[in-house]
Amino acid sequence: MPGPTADLFADEALQQPAGREQIGEESYVLRGYALPWIERLLPELRRVLAQSPFRQMVTPGGFTMSAALSSCGELGWTTDARGYRYSPFDPRSQQPWPVMPDTLRQLAVAAATEAGFGGFQPDACLINRYVPGAKMSLHQDKNERNYSAPVVSVSLGLPAIFLFGGHARSDKTQKVSLFHGDVVVWGGVDRLRFHGVMPIKDGLHSIMGPQRINLTFRTAG
Ligand code: SIN
Ligand code: FE2
Repeated sequence: MPGPTADLFADEALQQPAGREQIGEESYVLRGYALPWIERLLPELRRVLAQSPFRQMVTPGGFTMSAALSSCGELGWTTDARGYRYSPFDPRSQQPWPVMPDTLRQLAVAAATEAGFGGFQPDACLINRYVPGAKMSLHQDKNERNYSAPVVSVSLGLPAIFLFGGHARSDKTQKVSLFHGDVVVWGGVDRLRFHGVMPIKDGLHSIMGPQRINLTFRTAG
């Protein structure tokens, strides 16, 4: 039976209103939005990763990415010497990517709606794993066919500093701290803004351990 402390934390997590912080004209951080979903989401995520495990990919420029990647949904994002692209197949197994689990999809659709993007139909969920020291350089999400759909990004585990830039790589970036359960949604006029993640600091998260996992949902096809 969970003790009084566990109950207290559970209540706190559920009662916390999902604070909506605006970080762009059509971009929001939904604080703690994913917290009530996490218990249902983690077993689904584990099943996805058993089928398509994390692996480090190489960029067309020949660099090995520090974040390890996997995907679920009809399309998965991949990179290799030939370029960046979406593929219906996991290059490791040559099999289709795992189906996008219901809880993941429902969370992404609900968060998109909360941020003003009703009718979101994600067909791709990229799963990034960052161990301490891993980062994501500034980039635009522009391999998708559909820019009218937003990007929905769910943070789990160790905290991160998310860099949210402008439409040019050299534009000034905002630093946004992201914690376990936070969801960022950017779309519309902000859909192609540069973004990245600063190197993750050492730490141990009580649920996720020594890592950060980020799920990004998009309409790619
Ligand atoms: C990404 O841009 O693909 C990942 C962003 C993040 O890890 O927060
Ligand atoms: Fe991205």
